[in-house]
Amino acid sequence: MAGGIVDRRDVWVLSDESVWHPTIEWYAKAVGAMKKRDTPDLADPTSFAHLAAIHGTNLQPNRWPAGAKLHECQHSSWYFLPWHRIYLHHFEKIVRATVVELGGPDDWALPYWNYSDSTRPATRQLPPAFRRKTMPGRRANPLYVAERAPTINDRGAVPLDDVDVEDALAEIAFTEPDETPGFGGPVTDWWHGGGPVGSLESLPHGSVHVAVGGISPPGLMSRFNTAALDPVFWLHHANIDRLWEVWLGRKNGRANPDARRWLDKRFSMGTGTVSTDLAVKEVLDTKKAPLRYRYGDMPRRPAPRRRPALVAADTTPERGRPAKLAGATDRPVALGATPTTADVDVAAPGRRRRGVAGGLPQRVYLKLENVTGSSLAAGAYNVYVNVPEGADPNEHQDHRAGRISMFGVLESSGADDTHSGSGLTFSFEITELVRRLEAAGDWDSSRLRVVFVPVPDAAGQLYEGDVSVGRVSVFYG
Ligand code: C2O
Repeated sequence: MAGGIVDRRDVWVLSDESVWHPTIEWYAKAVGAMKKRDTPDLADPTSFAHLAAIHGTNLQPNRWPAGAKLHECQHSSWYFLPWHRIYLHHFEKIVRATVVELGGPDDWALPYWNYSDSTRPATRQLPPAFRRKTMPGRRANPLYVAERAPTINDRGAVPLDDVDVEDALAEIAFTEPDETPGFGGPVTDWWHGGGPVGSLESLPHGSVHVAVGGISPPGLMSRFNTAALDPVFWLHHANIDRLWEVWLGRKNGRANPDARRWLDKRFSMGTGTVSTDLAVKEVLDTKKAPLRYRYGDMPRRPAPRRRPALVAADTTPERGRPAKLAGATDRPVALGATPTTADVDVAAPGRRRRGVAGGLPQRVYLKLENVTGSSLAAGAYNVYVNVPEGADPNEHQDHRAGRISMFGVLESSGADDTHSGSGLTFSFEITELVRRLEAAGDWDSSRLRVVFVPVPDAAGQLYEGDVSVGRVSVFYG
């Protein structure tokens, strides 16, 4: 490729040309060759299993190959996006070298799976080459994985609610200074999971993981320790990486963190001559060395959904002041296979601030703290506020506060050396929603009613699970 920039292309555009478009077929051949390098001790850093174990593994650290850094994926983390970008680059280098060894092109690049193109609902299905048991030449297809959700290997599609990108892309801050984690995640140090989840990491990232992997039993894509063993993992993450670029492209103040702690953080993976060692600041321009890729086939951008601007620009409050707890449930709230309701008694806002209509607090946050469990009923939930009694929440999208994904709940629920056991935490700023409810007369300043509605999987199913939210709380800023 002689130092050029490669195009990471939309796998569905390639698939429309041909199920076995050369980029896809070379990927299948290379994954097959890399799987042949697999050994139970993960000794070969170019083996598929070693690469997947960098993300997560069940193998105990005393059995890891010398010098290997495994089980490192950054979730619920400030480094979620850059860590996975470096990880993809490391993987792509090894796949490309393998493609070349097999006689393929030296400009091979990882395709991405864009499941959120609303003009093409078929793209919510797995690309056909990932669903077929055989590849050309009647050989077993290394891209096929049996351990996936029901119907996903047939014609089942990832549910529409699981591919929503607009909530994440509407975020302005990479990291919020206050109660919400923003687009890219909360400020953390090295962190494997648990705690507050960034918007993009929750949806569509986490929800697509579970929609592809399945719930009962959880397939490869549904668990940190097995996710990267599904070859479609890498195309899913290329899309998440692309959405980071899309988000930055929407401008309006959107920017990466400029903190040295974030920019200077280094990650290394692989061993010996097959290793990658990069700092976050070295991977922020994908077109520059060492990355040198860009995203092709970008769909025409649909007009960003506009939210009613109810707070006039000149009264926008300053951020950064710690929000105060206004009310919370006093017992855990189950997230099951049927909608659940939680009533939160809210104390009246303390001091009224000038310039804010109705004496409402300047900012209102809804937090779902310590979501834990050992089995899931659904991969994601829609969260609504103050839906009229007896009404179907799905018909009240204007009352939707957000969506949450259950990816990572199982891992962050049991305390071990890398997880705290305190579960996942989600928070949404619902200031505008509250203002709208107030204007419509649907706001009661002493009580907030929160409804959680499970999203059925591709087969239309929900399961038996034991997940609960430790506390549903309301904060005023
Ligand atoms: Cu590190 Cu999509 O997971």
